Amino acid sequence: MDASDLSLLPPDIAEASRSFEEQLAACNSLDALLRLKGTFTGREHSHAARLMEALKAAPKEQKKDLGALANQLKQAWEAGIKARQDGLEAARRRAAELAAKMDPDLPPPMPMRGALHPLQRLQDRLVDIFASLGFHVEEGPEIETEAHNFDGLNIPGDHPARGSSDTFYLEQHPELLLRTHTSPVQVRVLRRLAPELDARGGIRFVAPGRVYRKDDIDPTHSPMFHQVEGMLVGKGIGMHHLKGTLEYAMRALFGPDTRIRLRPSYFPFVEPGAELDVSCPLCAGKGCRVCKGSGWVELLGAGLIHPNVLRYAGIDPETWSGFAFGLGVERTAMMVSQTPDLRLFFENDQRFIRQMGGLD
Ligand code: PHE
Repeated sequence: MDASDLSLLPPDIAEASRSFEEQLAACNSLDALLRLKGTFTGREHSHAARLMEALKAAPKEQKKDLGALANQLKQAWEAGIKARQDGLEAARRRAAELAAKMDPDLPPPMPMRGALHPLQRLQDRLVDIFASLGFHVEEGPEIETEAHNFDGLNIPGDHPARGSSDTFYLEQHPELLLRTHTSPVQVRVLRRLAPELDARGGIRFVAPGRVYRKDDIDPTHSPMFHQVEGMLVGKGIGMHHLKGTLEYAMRALFGPDTRIRLRPSYFPFVEPGAELDVSCPLCAGKGCRVCKGSGWVELLGAGLIHPNVLRYAGIDPETWSGFAFGLGVERTAMMVSQTPDLRLFFENDQRFIRQMGGLD
């Protein structure tokens, strides 16, 4: 049917006919469709009924064309409405089927919520524990100088840790490296605060952060991991202060029955140096797989600040003394959570991350 055909129609019906498809598509319910059906093809007062009246009243020579057009339009409207009705009824059936299958006892789909990574949570807990003892938080850069990472820490020029097989150096700047521990923060903070040391009466801080070593990735090694460094400077500080502080911290972390022990060890920047063990938090010291039957697990390195470290920072070791310690965050997290493979902490498998609730 072309536009000249429509010109035979009364103008309002021609107009309605032009917008039929659009109105049909807008019917999103059977009720709306029924109303449209009444308007277009209903028995009385519909566009179709009025077309029949117009046909009756039309002059004889127009009756044939107008009759054909009226039939054509009526059929198109009826077919369109029928197709739309089928579609809407099918959709209603599908919705009813789905509703019958729905189990209202099931929990609704919950939005996914972000959370802090387990390593971050453990690090935050450690920082909080030391903060409660008056330690403030310090940070240092991950790209360090050889001076801060080694020289200032009394690490001799021929120490194996300085080799390029252990340490990532920056190709363009051979004096720069990715820090191999958080201990260079000791050097930075000591030097910065040395001038105010008398006024402050001492220093105590913790320094959490990333460190890097040239290790191949395996269940217990990663070229990047996290440490929390701790340091205290004061007058007349001895091993008993170190031991008391760490015992308090380990009990806050693992529970009030935790025991600690210090074993002699060597780090160039402390004298004496020690390794700290805690009674195995999983078997309470009885002996299990995690502590390999010994009842103890090794947790951190510590000791009294070497006089050369204080001297390098411009602090007189005759007046001032102190202790320092460094703890591996991954190693601690693995132990607490009985995770046998360090790589799980970096792979972001949400099933694993969710299981780590126990670190809180
Ligand atoms: N920096 C040492 C390490 O990475 C740990 C440590 C820190 C030891 C402070 C003693 C004192 O192994």
